[in-house]
Amino acid sequence: MASEKHFKYVILGGGVAAVRIRREGVRQAGRPARGARHHLQGVRTSLYLPARRMASVAPYERPALSKGYLFPQNAARLPGFHTCVGSGGEKLLPEWYTEKGIELILSTEIVKADLASKTLTSAAGATFTYETLLIATGSSTIKLTDFGVQGAESNNILYLREIDDADKLVAAMQAKKDGKAVVVGGGYIGLELSAALKINNFDVTMVYPEPWCMPRLFTAGIAHFYEGYYASKGINIVKGTVASGFDADANGDVSVVKLKDGRVLDADIVIVGVGGRPLTGLFKGQVEEDKGGLKTDTFFETSVAGVYAIGDVATFPMKLYNEPRRVEHVDHARKSAEQAVKAIKAKESGESVAEYDYLPYFYSRSFDVAWQFYGENVGETVLFGDNDPAVAKPKFGTYWVKDGKVIGVFLEGGSADENQAIAKVARAQPPVADVEALGKEGLDFATKI
Ligand code: FDA
Ligand code: NAD
Repeated sequence: MASEKHFKYVILGGGVAAVRIRREGVRQAGRPARGARHHLQGVRTSLYLPARRMASVAPYERPALSKGYLFPQNAARLPGFHTCVGSGGEKLLPEWYTEKGIELILSTEIVKADLASKTLTSAAGATFTYETLLIATGSSTIKLTDFGVQGAESNNILYLREIDDADKLVAAMQAKKDGKAVVVGGGYIGLELSAALKINNFDVTMVYPEPWCMPRLFTAGIAHFYEGYYASKGINIVKGTVASGFDADANGDVSVVKLKDGRVLDADIVIVGVGGRPLTGLFKGQVEEDKGGLKTDTFFETSVAGVYAIGDVATFPMKLYNEPRRVEHVDHARKSAEQAVKAIKAKESGESVAEYDYLPYFYSRSFDVAWQFYGENVGETVLFGDNDPAVAKPKFGTYWVKDGKVIGVFLEGGSADENQAIAKVARAQPPVADVEALGKEGLDFATKI
């Protein structure tokens, strides 16, 4: 007979946000008495990871997969990057969960959620009932097979979301040593993976449809630096077209990428990074949705009382910009989880919690370059510093100015203090009278605030 279990709190998902919930719950509840299975005010809680495409490992820092995990030497490996090391916290090994009385249920995919009866059902038919549910299912990867791209099911056309995807990539890099790689997509995955493949001595070509890379954040001036820098590392960039089909060899391994503009590229490995989709399907028709995510209030509670959504799946009121937003980044995954725990505990004790006041923060690094961005990338832009890709020590940035105020700042090559300074500017939104003068003043404008 399929098993049935009841928990006061169930956390669905085992990613960055879910684990922060666990750690925050433990921190706020205080250390439980030895042997007690008590968290989030003394109740058993549970954490689920799906069997689908997933190794049975405790939660880890997903950003490591596109960076240190792919280094040819001294690569990051578990247990080195279990959560919460990415934010300077203690490393949560499987023992941590046991010690804290948290039931960590691995290799279990929830295939049905019935919010009315407060019941989750796994692929194996086990049921889990709860009093409070925290949805932290994150995102899935958009696949070229989703659009019926011809030949997209060939071997070595790879994606990156989970650790077993990263293992497949590492195995493919070993099997196709010093070969040709085509990277489809010019966003985060495209830029970070092109660099990783180049460092592993692949002949790399990037393909993306837009006029410049990372168009959802970068201006033409910012992209000018990274495209030139990547070219100087030997990466070929093909813009303004998409992969429209693939040929495979007799083993079924991808051998050719056909582009929509008629060009063809030889390939031993193809990496696809064409975006993600929040995993909200289990809750369709049961909770209110907005902007592709599960709509929450400032405490991350959804339209169904006692059901919270955090991380990539949550569309929450962004106080700073006074509108609902969904954010697919690790910093928000951590902070939304902390806010939800505070709110749950406050509700139980009758206390109040301040509204979530998030400042958007994005970052990336590849080769020897690293950037950070804070705030909002709308309005007029002002480039400062030298964005020449040939410069020895790159340091440049961009301010976004709207309604006479600086509302967003990008900085490549900033020190810790300088990055803190740009965060402060994006939060404070100082007025600027003369945009041209702001460009001339450059980073000094931020550091003196
Ligand atoms: P996350 O995706 O981390 O976790 C979701 C969990 O839910 C997974 O364990 C999943 O398997 C599970 N799940 C889903 N459906 C389920 C079901 N039906 N049953 C059971 N379990 C289910 N961000 C950033 O700010 N800086 C960076 O450098 C990077 N780098 C980066 C690299 C790579 C390769 C990826 C894929 C992503 C990043 N990100 C990033 C984005 C960041 O990792 C992401 O925004 C957070 O992990 C989101 O955290 P969540 O907890 O919301 O989802
Ligand atoms: P993305 O949205 O950053 O970029 C997708 C890119 O693919 C865009 O440039 C888009 O125009 C392009 N594209 C779309 N369709 C295409 C097609 N048919 N052919 C070629 N290009 C196409 O998404 P991603 O890079 O796939 O990243 C997935 C997720 O992982 C996101 O949530 C992202 O935030 C996260 N991630 C973040 C980091 C980081 O923050 N440093 C690093 C890696 C991944």
